[in-house]
Amino acid sequence: MRVLCIGDVFGRPGRDALLATLPALRRSQAIDLVIANGENSAHGAGLTSATGRSLFAAGVDVITTGNHVWQRREALDYVEREPRVIRPLNYPPGTPGRGSALVRVGAVPVLVLNAMGRLFMKPLDDPFRALDDALAEAGSDVKVILVDFHAEATSEKRAMGFYLDGRVSLVFGTHTHVATADQQILPKGTAYVTDLGMVGVRRSVIGMAVEPVLAGFTTMLPNHAQPAEGSVDVNTVVVEIDADNGKATSIARLDYHVE
Ligand SMILES: [Fe+2]
Ligand SMILES: [Fe+2]
Repeated sequence: MRVLCIGDVFGRPGRDALLATLPALRRSQAIDLVIANGENSAHGAGLTSATGRSLFAAGVDVITTGNHVWQRREALDYVEREPRVIRPLNYPPGTPGRGSALVRVGAVPVLVLNAMGRLFMKPLDDPFRALDDALAEAGSDVKVILVDFHAEATSEKRAMGFYLDGRVSLVFGTHTHVATADQQILPKGTAYVTDLGMVGVRRSVIGMAVEPVLAGFTTMLPNHAQPAEGSVDVNTVVVEIDADNGKATSIARLDYHVE
């Protein structure tokens, strides 16, 4: 089974780049399942039913999120009623929506999980124990399990990779919007990468227009940050998984640029 994972899709430039390129990429790479992080799909902060629809129209199967998930009020309702959109599972009990999605690739069940880190982020419930619980709940029938660990600190993400090694097929990080080059198969067969990166404008500060962000850092005055415009970097990884035992056999970066 070939899975394509796409970093945080940032605003209209990110959505348009996927609409323009993902259908052909899906075919040429013989991709069976596409996961994208959509927490920045609505003008760089949050997601709406319209931006979710646009990602699904481009060929995304499951949308994961993170700390920006609730930035648009309508997400509270959208995430609750759209099972293909998930939010971190370590939010407090009673939070709208789900932290997991069970989908099928042919006859093979695939579980997608989303958790959020705690270092330099809002302190949610322990993501390690929350993922233990989710895996216990999944039981042993589901072999292919994919985890989006949305976190700031590379140390927490790498620790999570080793924590889940051999228990899931893939752990990929999101949130920093900067792609890391440490894609690898961990000793017990889990594919891992610290951060996918983003689908966002190259001349930007993690998706935002450079000048206002820069002014904010240098003047310490309030600034009007807004999404950048221009050509887009698309950061993804392609992961090959043995559907019989859930072990990953390869993970490779597939990054490209859309003018
Ligand atoms: Fe993000
Ligand atoms: Fe984030």
